[in-house]
Formats: sequence, C-alpha cells, structure tokens
Amino acid sequence: MNLDAHWMPFTANKAFKKNPKMLHSASGMYWNFDTDQKILDMTAGLWCTNLGHGRKKVAEAMYNSACKLDYAPSFSFGHESAFVLAERLAEISPANLNKVFFTGSGSESVDTAIKMALAYHVANGHGSKKMIISRERGYHGVNMGGTAAGGLPYNTRTFGRWGQVDFLSCPLDMENSAFSRGQPKLGVEKADELEQIINLHGAENIAAVIVEPIAGAGGVIIPPQNYLKRLREIASKHGVLLIFDEVVCAFGRTGSFTASQEFDVTPDIYTTAKGLTSGMIPMGAVFCTDTIHDAIINGSEGIEFFHGYTYSAHPTACAAALACLDIYEEEGLFTRANEGIGQYFEQVLHNLKELPGIIDIRNYGLLGAIEFEPQQPGQTPMGVNVSNDLWNNGVMVRGLGNAIVVSPPLIIEKTHIDEFAEKVWQSIKTCYNG
Ligand SMILES: Cc1ncc(COP(=O)(O)O)c(C=O)c1O
Repeated sequence: MNLDAHWMPFTANKAFKKNPKMLHSASGMYWNFDTDQKILDMTAGLWCTNLGHGRKKVAEAMYNSACKLDYAPSFSFGHESAFVLAERLAEISPANLNKVFFTGSGSESVDTAIKMALAYHVANGHGSKKMIISRERGYHGVNMGGTAAGGLPYNTRTFGRWGQVDFLSCPLDMENSAFSRGQPKLGVEKADELEQIINLHGAENIAAVIVEPIAGAGGVIIPPQNYLKRLREIASKHGVLLIFDEVVCAFGRTGSFTASQEFDVTPDIYTTAKGLTSGMIPMGAVFCTDTIHDAIINGSEGIEFFHGYTYSAHPTACAAALACLDIYEEEGLFTRANEGIGQYFEQVLHNLKELPGIIDIRNYGLLGAIEFEPQQPGQTPMGVNVSNDLWNNGVMVRGLGNAIVVSPPLIIEKTHIDEFAEKVWQSIKTCYNG
C-alpha cells in the first residue's frame, strides 16, 4: 500500500509512515487484526465510540435511512428525523436548554456556539460584546473560533488568534491536589479570575466564557469542587454567557447525560459531538436556552441566523444518533460511569500510584489520567513512551506529553480494566527500567 498521498491530521506524518499503526476492524472493546492480535481500546477512539465498536443496530439504521433519503439540504428544507432527534435531545437536555442546532463535528459546534453568543448580544443591542474568555490548556477544536479560544499553545502558534480572547488559568494544582479522586477539594478561588478579567476588559466588551467542564485533550483536568458554580455566578452577574464545551463530557462520560447535570451547573449554551453518534458518522449538536434562541429568532425577519452547514442534520447522521440514543437508554449507559464500574475504574487507576515516576493520578466518571514526572529537556516525554509501549502490548491509550489519558467505551467491564492495569504496570516498569 502506498502511504504517500494521505496527509494525516494531528500526526507526525514522517514518523507514522516509517512505522504505521494501521487499524483493520473493531468490535466491542477491541480493535482487531487479521492475525490473532487485538488492541484494547481504552480511549473510545478519540473520546467518541462510547457504545463500543461494531454496533450493528446503528449501522442498520444508517443503511436504511441512506437507502430512503440519501441527503436533504438543511437550508430552508426539513426532514422528519432531524425534528424527531432534536425533540428527543431537548427532552434529556438540562433545564431550559431546549433548542438544538446540528453541525458536523465538535469544531463546528464550538464555532456555532461562539456565533450564537455574538448573535444573541447583537439581537439585544449589545453589539460591542465580542470578546471570548477561555482557559489555558482548553481544547475547542480546530476551526477559527475554536483555534482562537484554544489554550494549547502548539495548536494556535502557527496560525495566530483570529478574534479577541483572554484566558483563565488552568485549575490543575498538582502541588496541593495530586491523587484526588473525583473533584479536588481545593481550588474554587481560581474561578474568581473571571471577575478580574471581566473588570479588566469591561463586561460591555465580553460575549462569553467557554470552558470544558472537564478538560479532555489538555490532560483530563477535573474542576475543583464548586469551581463551575462560581464561574456561573460571576458570568451571570456581568451579563456574560457561559458556554460549556461538552464535546467529550456529554453522552455519559461523567455519569450523567451531560457534565452540566453531573455538576449541577447550567450553562447558557453547550456543545456536543462525538458520543452523539458514538463516532460512527460525523455529527455535532449545539444546545442553547430558549432565551437565546428566542432573542435571535424574534430579532429579525427572514433568515434570522446566517449560519449553517451543508451537512447540518444529515439524514444518515440523524438516523445514527436516534439509534445511539435507543442504545444509551436501553443499556443505561448515561449513568453507568457513576455506578460500580466507575468506582472500580477509580480504584484500579489509583492502585497504580506505587509505580515509578508517577506524580499524579486523577479521574472522574470514565475519564482518567496518569501523570509522570517531567523528563530532562530533549528527552521524549514519558506519556509518549508509555503509550507507545502499551500499543506494542495490546492497549491503546493517549500519550499527552507527560501524561497518559484514558476514556474507554462506556460498555467497559472489570476484566478490561484489569487487563489495562496489568499492561500499564508492565509498560511503566519497562519504560523506567529499560
Ligand atoms: C472539548 C472539545 N471540543 C471540540 C473538539 C473538536 O471536535 P472535532 O474533532 O469533532 O472537530 C474536541 C475534540 O477532541 C474536544 O475535545
């Protein structure tokens, strides 16, 4: 096979093409190979295959839908499954976040959410409110809004920031809160930075604050107790909208449908994607309050919101999402991460504490990270070494700098967690002892 033509995203292309990691097929918790080899998927792909691999019910729903209606333009035309899906999602969505706008990905969801916030302020006669407040180590996808709001330096440096953005600092505090189980007890005061930033720039210039309730790609950073509540209070006090980027957290990752419900903090807008179709076809959805929707819709005649995508509410994706919702509900997967399996995951993860080089282990629901002490400058970070060794050992995790992060499919069983722990044990020992 010639690997030349395919320019791979977020990949060290030259290194990959020398030593390709090719995936062939998948079922349940595993990627499969033609040989007997299997790879345990401890990342749900890219935080998305929440239902596990090879869900025939979803594939059949997509096939049947595509045979009936291959495509439907979503600008000024509708089709039934888009409305049925939006209604079902609105029913399980927090509080009054009842309006659903479909996109094709997490990045599109983030840019849509930012544009909704800007449009809301314009509709209310507050057109000067344009600035976005984000957070260091946040990841909000790769479109221009999300790139501008991104708090991971490498993702933005080459391109610059298109838009006015300022940043809260990251609440991760390994000095005082290392090895916290669930939410760290200390650190709520970090949220007060929002008030300082609002005072610095003026509330009249700030549209919204956007945070991931639990930061995923930044290294699984769990919000300290009451931190998100404090952000909510400060944002409300100053007329700044609160956007939760739930592209990773929604659809059961934390033990509730959304992290907003899990942490009992209601944003004005939240973004989703990934788990919506369990990764089987690209789709995202942005949820907003009736207040935001109504202000924009009642603010003008004709097309009220000049925004949308060719593939918004694609019929095949809607069919997949509806079938996924059935499975989430039939198998109780929205809350499973909060039940016995989540507790077992936490226990096993923290049992790894005695291994060499570990300076933090953190977890919430079915999300976890193991952080290693930093290497000398110029050396490969240990998260990368351990994740490579684990791959050779039959386990996929993500190596993010000094950490490995895990976010397994929500169908995971204790035996998989044991398999993971045993192999992590071996890999860490190999990487430290050579
Ligand atoms: C929190 C968050 N927002 C947005 C995105 C972007 O999603 P996508 O890659 O589907 O564009 C991601 C992807 O990992 C994410 O984790």
